Amino acid sequence: MAPSLLHVFIALLTLTPAVLPTTPLPSSTSTATVACNNSPALCSRAYSNITHMGAHNSAFLRDASTGNSLAGNQFYNATVALSAGLRLLQAQVHLSNGTLRLCHTLCELLDAGTLETWLSKIKYWLDTHPNDVVTLLLVNADSQPAASFGAAFEASGISAYGFVPSGSGWPTLQEMIVAGTRLVTFIASIDTTATQYPYLLPEFSHVFETPFNVTSLSGFGCALDRPSSAGSATSAVRAGLLPLLNHFAYTAVTADILIPNVGNIDTTNSPSTSETGALGLHAQTCAAQWGVKPVFVLVDFYDRGPSIDTADRVNGIVATGRDTSGQRAASSTVALLVFMAVGLVVF
Ligand SMILES: *[C@@H]1O[C@H](CO)[C@@H](O)[C@H](O)[C@H]1NC(C)=O
Ligand SMILES: *[C@@H]1O[C@H](CO)[C@@H](O)[C@H](O)[C@H]1NC(C)=O
Ligand SMILES: *[C@@H]1O[C@H](CO)[C@@H](O)[C@H](O)[C@H]1NC(C)=O
Ligand SMILES: *[C@@H]1O[C@H](CO)[C@@H](O)[C@H](O)[C@H]1NC(C)=O
Repeated sequence: MAPSLLHVFIALLTLTPAVLPTTPLPSSTSTATVACNNSPALCSRAYSNITHMGAHNSAFLRDASTGNSLAGNQFYNATVALSAGLRLLQAQVHLSNGTLRLCHTLCELLDAGTLETWLSKIKYWLDTHPNDVVTLLLVNADSQPAASFGAAFEASGISAYGFVPSGSGWPTLQEMIVAGTRLVTFIASIDTTATQYPYLLPEFSHVFETPFNVTSLSGFGCALDRPSSAGSATSAVRAGLLPLLNHFAYTAVTADILIPNVGNIDTTNSPSTSETGALGLHAQTCAAQWGVKPVFVLVDFYDRGPSIDTADRVNGIVATGRDTSGQRAASSTVALLVFMAVGLVVF
């Protein structure tokens, strides 16, 4: 699947002027001046050989737009996250009043709008960032048919970017960029017997996950949680499933009610490879156990840590072209105080 010279040439022609090199560079480095997902070093790397940092419940915000909802898992929205370097966005999709909406557990609890509107915003980001590959992970909470998801993807226009696997391994980022198929969409779970939307990929045909219900900073492990049919992490890796590291902690308010643990977030999202509960240590430990790097990582409050530092370290890159201007210095202390004052408990 190596891109032909013509394809590479076309890719260079279609770059935005802002990222074109202004002076000719030595031929050995000339193709390495354009960044893919914030680094020239990632262009020629297979999608499956890159750690894609992700925002867990990326549509569910703890900010002014939600009255600092305790159900919110992120301080910043999904496109701000993309500009800050994240390349994986996870969200729950529910059926409400006949429409697919992004809701946290229940639409009455936190309703982040329609799937179609959200996808339109991600599409706009892709339109304006032509050298970036983005992954979505959507939870099909109400077991809706592929056709309903397909309708939202098509109405938003984002389906044009949909990547369809060829069955012969994952391409490089550059190959996906040249082909214009820069959006990978996993859905848990979806019936794909209808073949009309081949870019809607059943998550567990491609991905395995570590547990997502961790309630203590010493609770992060590397064992396979889903799909149980894959057996162990070792057999899942051998079968070619891409590992997803769930790295967010909940505070158990009661046995049944969990809320995002924001109080310890600076530890949880830390790139430290020695501190208990730190993302850096979790990623390093699992990479050693699995023999492959985590391909996907999900965190809460992604800007803390900041979590992207761990992905950069695992990827061995120094990033370029990120924009963190949309981020204010969010205060977990304030959020925690709000929680304590309100005393509300939500998953
Ligand atoms: C993954 O990428 C690294 C860094 O470029 C490279 O050394 C390694 O050979 C790649 N692994 C695979 C399986 O392609
Ligand atoms: C995130 O916020 C920015 C600034 O308000 C807005 O332009 C953008 O559309 C938002 N993105 C999403 C996914 O809501
Ligand atoms: C349900 O959707 C209809 C149109 O599809 C709309 O008129 C109505 O206001 C919606 N109801 C609620 C409760 O959102
Ligand atoms: C997480 O889920 C697993 C499997 O459902 C369960 O055995 C375990 O007790 C749960 N752990 C916590 C902390 O809720």
